[in-house]
Amino acid sequence: MAQIVYLNRQFLPIDQAYVPVLDRGFIFGDGVYELIPVYSRRPFRVQEHLRRLQSSLDGIRLTNPLGEAEWIDLIQELIRHNEPEDQSLYLQVTRGVAPRDHAFPKDTPPTIFMMSNPLVIASRSLCETGVHAVSAVDNRWGRCDIKAISLLPNVLLRQLAVDAGCMETILFRDGMLTEGSLSNIFAVKDGAILAPPKDHHMLPGITYDLVLELASANVIPVRTGKFDLAQIRAADELWLTSSTREVLPVVTLDKQAIADGKPGPLFWKMHGLYQDYKQRVMRQPA
Ligand code: PDD
Repeated sequence: MAQIVYLNRQFLPIDQAYVPVLDRGFIFGDGVYELIPVYSRRPFRVQEHLRRLQSSLDGIRLTNPLGEAEWIDLIQELIRHNEPEDQSLYLQVTRGVAPRDHAFPKDTPPTIFMMSNPLVIASRSLCETGVHAVSAVDNRWGRCDIKAISLLPNVLLRQLAVDAGCMETILFRDGMLTEGSLSNIFAVKDGAILAPPKDHHMLPGITYDLVLELASANVIPVRTGKFDLAQIRAADELWLTSSTREVLPVVTLDKQAIADGKPGPLFWKMHGLYQDYKQRVMRQPA
């Protein structure tokens, strides 16, 4: 079965989907996106993703071209058109096609693009070994809460991790933890989860919110605040979270072990809570 995508009111094979070169997404990176995990053909936390899409669109002053029900219908249809049971659904809205001019064009319809890729969930053995990370200065712009398609800083920062044979680059702005190049970051100290605050310097992760919800429902203490590199290095555990990676333990930072360099007990607890939550949601009637 060919990979089917959605582009401006049409479902079509990916190799037939083209965008004009003057699309502002191509010229300026002028657009926003979402990435929604789909388990057993059901989109996970879709309302939350659509709410964040709305706030990203508000952040770039672009009117949402569709209502929530229309988005959900399109998402369902795209899932049906594609084969995998578990999918990673990408959607993007740009400010459309117009002669190159930084200022917003008038009366230009936005470009809507959606694609589905197979979702490969982290294996049990990856959870057991954990992943490695490097640290870097967070040199991105001041609106990292907007899920913007202009990801050049994230691309460059993520490459630092790849160059070092690691999974993620953990970012510090003015010396304080913000997030990763493609994930949110939590630490654990003395039985409490340490969480950087949701502000303009990090993406409000859907997985971040779920981890904090699960912590609260299970009476796991959370300390939201600013944490510096020394505090993160001295943590008992370090985790990264994202829609495609769920919750993963980070066992080294800049080649130095976090605690004993093994996934910690609170990671395993959260991992279990997350998997149970997923199963519960997937069993609910659609
Ligand atoms: N990235 N922070 C950044 C910079 C991210 O790019 C992501 C997700 C997250 C986690 O957000 P969520 O839990 O809602 O997935 C945090 C996606 C997966 C991506 O760009 O591919």
